[in-house]
Order: sequence, then structure tokens, then C-alpha cells
Amino acid sequence: MNQAREKSQIRNFALAEQGELKIDWVREHMPLLRQLEEQFRQTQPFAGKRISMCLHLEAKTAYLALVVQAGGADVAIAASNPLSTQDDVVAGLVKRGVTTFGWYGATQEEYQAHLREVLNHDPIALIDDGADLATILHRERPEQAARIVGGCEETTTGIIRLRAMSDEGILKYPMIAVNDADCKHLFDNRYGTGQSVWDGVMRTTNLVIAGKTVVVVGYGWCGKGVAMRAKGLGAKVIVTEVDPIRAVEAAMDGFSVMPIVEAAAHGDFFITVTGNQYVIHKAAMERMKDGAILGNAGHFDVEVSKPDLESLAVTVRRVRPNIDEYKLADGRRIYLIAEGRLVNLAAGDGHPAEVMDMTFALQALGLREVVQHSYAPGLHKIPRELDLEVARMRLQSWGVTIDQLTDQQVAYLHSWQ
Ligand SMILES: NC(=O)c1ccc[n+]([C@@H]2O[C@H](COP(=O)([O-])OP(=O)(O)OC[C@H]3O[C@@H](n4cnc5c(N)ncnc54)[C@H](O)[C@@H]3O)[C@@H](O)[C@H]2O)c1
Repeated sequence: MNQAREKSQIRNFALAEQGELKIDWVREHMPLLRQLEEQFRQTQPFAGKRISMCLHLEAKTAYLALVVQAGGADVAIAASNPLSTQDDVVAGLVKRGVTTFGWYGATQEEYQAHLREVLNHDPIALIDDGADLATILHRERPEQAARIVGGCEETTTGIIRLRAMSDEGILKYPMIAVNDADCKHLFDNRYGTGQSVWDGVMRTTNLVIAGKTVVVVGYGWCGKGVAMRAKGLGAKVIVTEVDPIRAVEAAMDGFSVMPIVEAAAHGDFFITVTGNQYVIHKAAMERMKDGAILGNAGHFDVEVSKPDLESLAVTVRRVRPNIDEYKLADGRRIYLIAEGRLVNLAAGDGHPAEVMDMTFALQALGLREVVQHSYAPGLHKIPRELDLEVARMRLQSWGVTIDQLTDQQVAYLHSWQ
């Protein structure tokens, strides 16, 4: 039995072959990571180093773990969300030697236990998603936190938490804010979320989007993608915002802009993507139409106020896999997808492989950067050169070439006369 199999806590190892097929499928569609896998295999940037990751446990993240392993690391990984964990992928990953903790539908206690197990691996470096590992290390394990050489953070919500820790001066190790790289948020948040949210909503509800009214709550990088693709599917789109600049952007992109309580009366579908809590609350729910469908694409399941929904409901029942019906006293029904967790991951396969190829190339390069150089504790930007390298690799994989500045143009752009 391989060592990873002995240490892992997973649901069913018998699913390994099916999981490996899923991993091999995405590998085919991730040429940037394939290139890095080959490079890392030769250069061994993580030779003998223990690395722990907390990510959505599906095929693309599994492949990232294998690329880091190819670079010589002893990798352990835990699920960042119980509803996005795919048990077959988990089994496939264990078969390929990665110690893994997680199963679909883990309870809150099990999920928390898995996060602690991945830290018991005693890593020197991390890949975190939503800063869950950072929170445990700083609250419960300060000595262990002090031993961490560095890591990378995947998402906006994690960066908000890490920035707060860094500003307070308590972040004990350097973290690279992968989300802030152009090759992350411009593509993953916008085009990845834009496509995969609608994939998740459509396959879960089996309903038409064309002609419906979609309310997008939050017009950040993700919200822009969700709104753009809803429009492309033929929906009428309303955007709600709290930031006046983003609200102007939404209006000039051609969307209606209004407060959530007003939008509530019009929406057939509501998608929250703010990284904030309770952005759909009681006052909005009280005005919703019978049959309104709510989904969240923000990192945590706090954007739709479930306490408000539960207090308004007289009955709650599961009407389809991943859809709960809340029946209100006046007979109106409001539907919540995937218990308010990330709709594209909990009710779909997440972002398309080609999009995650860029994000995970940044993760792999960011991890190598932080392991090989001594960064000070705190939050760091990914070096611009690595961001540009990922864009170049993407273009190269498509066979697209672009122009270069001439020396004369460089001089012109740097002169003032
Ligand atoms: N589903 C996915 O696969 C996926 C991918 C990337 C990021 N995320 C998550 O999605 C969330 C948003 O990420 P982003 O990159 O778009 O962030 P962002 O900061 O670019 O945008 C968030 C927007 O929400 C707005 N907002 C905040 N509170 C609001 C409220 N009460 N009502 C209306 N608007 C409000 C903000 O003004 C901002 O414009 C984060 O939690 C992030 O971690 C999810």
C-alpha cells in the first residue's frame, strides 16, 4: 500500500480509476501546467519539501498537486469546501501518491478535522484558498506558523483576510496574493466564473435563462463575468452594487442598476458574488416572486442570509439534488441552490480547465518563487515577470504571436520631450 493511502482520510479508494480518468482529461487541456510539470520534474524546485494545500478537491486542483509533487514535494491536500469535493478524484489523487483529506458532504466538524490533518503534515509551504489554513495556524498553532517559509493564496476572500492580518502585523509568513495577478482575476474571476456559474445553474435547475431576469449582486471581476454571460444567454440583467464606480461601470456596460430590495421584485435568478455577507436578506426575500432561484458564487456560504430564509419559511424540502425549496407563509416558494455554497463548484465542475491552467500556472510559479527566495512575512504581489510569463505561455499554447516594441518606441515611451 502506498504511504499516501495509509495516511489519507477519504471515502472510497475503489473510485480511483474513475478519478484518474478525470485528472487525465483536464491534464490534456492544461498545456501550461504540463509545461511546468516537465520543467519541475527536471529542476526539482521542491525537492524533499513538505507542502500542504487547501483547495477545492476536483480534477484541476488534483493536477496542480501532482505538478508540485513532480517538482519533488511531499504533498498533502485537504478540501476547501465539502460540497465541491469529488470522491473519485480524491481516490485517484491518493493512488498517485498525494496524501488527501476530504469527502463530499463532510460535516463542519469533519471538514475542520481535515484542515488540521493537512497541517499535521508539518508543511514548510502552503497553497491556501480562503485563508482557512492561515486562520488555524495563527489562532491555534503560532509555533507551527513561524516555521512556514511561505505560500500562495488563491482567492479574493482569502486575500481580504490575509491583508487584515498583514495590516495588523500578525501574519507570520509571506503569502503571495495570486488573485491579484492580472493572469488570475482578469480571466479566472471574469471568464471562468462567468461560464461555470451558468453551467452550474443550468445543469442543476434544467431551466431556460433566455427571457428571464437575472439579478447579479456585486459587479467585481466575477460579477462582470456572470452578468456578461447572462446577457449572452438572453437574460435581462440587473446589477446591484455598493461601490459607485462599479455601479457606473455596470450601467455603462448596459445593465440596469438598482438597490437589492428593488431588484428583488423582478428577479427570476439571483447570483451573489460579493465576498460579503447577507447581501440578500429578509427585506429582499419578502419582495421576491414565487419561484425565485438563488445561487451564490462568492467564496463563503454567507452571501444569501440562510438565517433569514429559514426564519421566513414554514417548510423546507429538497426538491432536486442540490436545490432546496423554502415555502413562505403566503405560499411563495424561494429556491436555494447548493445550500448557498459556490454554485459553480458545489453544483458543477468549477471553472473550465483552460482557465484554471493559467491560475494554477501562477500558483505553481508563485510557490516556487516563495520557496526559493526569502520574502519577509506579509502579503506580496506576484512578480510582474511571472504574470507576463504565464500570459506568454498562454499565447504560445494557442500559437498566437504578438508584436514587440522597437528600441525607438521604448525610448519614446520613456521620454518626456
Ligand atoms: N465562484 C468562483 O469560482 C470564484 C472565483 C473567484 C473568486 N470568487 C469569490 O467571489 C467573490 C467576489 O470576487 P471578485 O474577485 O469579484 O471580488 P471584487 O472585490 O472584484 O468584487 C466584489 C464586488 O462586490 C461588491 N459588493 C460588496 N458588498 C456588496 C453588497 N452588499 N451589495 C452589492 N455589491 C456588493 C463590491 O463593491 C465589489 O464591487 C469573492 O468571495 C471571491 O473569493 C469565486
